[in-house]
Amino acid sequence: MSNPLKIILDTDPGGDDIFALLWIISLVKQGLIELVAITTAEGNVNANTTFTCASQVLGLTEFAHIEIGKGVTSTTANSEDAAYIHGVDGMGGLAATLPPGKHEYATAPTSDDVIIDKLKAYPGEITLVAIAPLTNLAAAETKSPGILKQAKEIVVMGGAFQVPGNVTSQAEFNIGFDVDAAQIVFHSRNDIVILPLDITSQLIFSPEMAQEIYQVNAHHQLAKFILELNNFLVETSLIYRQTEGKKGFLVHDAATIAYLCYPKTLLLQRAKVEVETQGKFTKGKTIFDQRHNAKINPNAWVALQVDAANLLAVLIEDLKALLLHYN
Ligand code: BDR
Ligand code: CA
Repeated sequence: MSNPLKIILDTDPGGDDIFALLWIISLVKQGLIELVAITTAEGNVNANTTFTCASQVLGLTEFAHIEIGKGVTSTTANSEDAAYIHGVDGMGGLAATLPPGKHEYATAPTSDDVIIDKLKAYPGEITLVAIAPLTNLAAAETKSPGILKQAKEIVVMGGAFQVPGNVTSQAEFNIGFDVDAAQIVFHSRNDIVILPLDITSQLIFSPEMAQEIYQVNAHHQLAKFILELNNFLVETSLIYRQTEGKKGFLVHDAATIAYLCYPKTLLLQRAKVEVETQGKFTKGKTIFDQRHNAKINPNAWVALQVDAANLLAVLIEDLKALLLHYN
């Protein structure tokens, strides 16, 4: 068997972030991924809360030994979070039902420093999975120019190309939250992998799917957590019209893990991607030139087609496998 894929997860949990993290933990247990560190970010909720949330989920899954960085706070980033979807604790009000996290925010390193240190320690080996606003990655690149080229690959959930945005008519949350950071990251190398709303808006995780996972080991606290988190997200997603009225929530961030471990579920296109950082009506829009003329200097691979049924099926099977580990 080949060596497990080393990853750093840059995340702002966040309900769908938690599903992506649980998927990673299942793949760690299967020997496919090595989780080098988690770098939390400001986004869905503030930096302190995303840190606490990640720590609690790591505790719940017996992964409290994983290092967590605390999010860099940007002065230029948007201040509007997405607690209306994910809950003020980033996990649907369930924080009080979990044991307290073991990591200490006050003494934790900042996420940009964790990224710099790990990429320097393992040049060319670590995949950065970025499922939050890109503030931490951009801060690392600004502090240590060229450092992002030391990653094996950078995989970003973000952007909206041929579909509307989800925070404005044009902007997707992770890009719109910190447009300057996104532009820095997209210009840091020529092979950024982007999983945009175009495909993630097809990933509707339903209550039936959560129930199927729960049944595998209904007595374990993780099973109840998955079920209740799903219930919360389904409610808010309906209220905020994320799923075209269908009962379910969008597991946007999980698309990054599908790309890494189940690439047959996605079709990507080479493109030169830019972020609109100024526009009065279009700030945060991700753009590539769709005309039929020659393009030079592409910087990205953008996923525009997904086999949603198979992606959700493998996610469900891996979450079931994870629960079986705790039997
Ligand atoms: C992205 O925004 C956040 O609210 C989600 O966690 C996801 O990373 C989707 O636009
Ligand atoms: Ca996220």
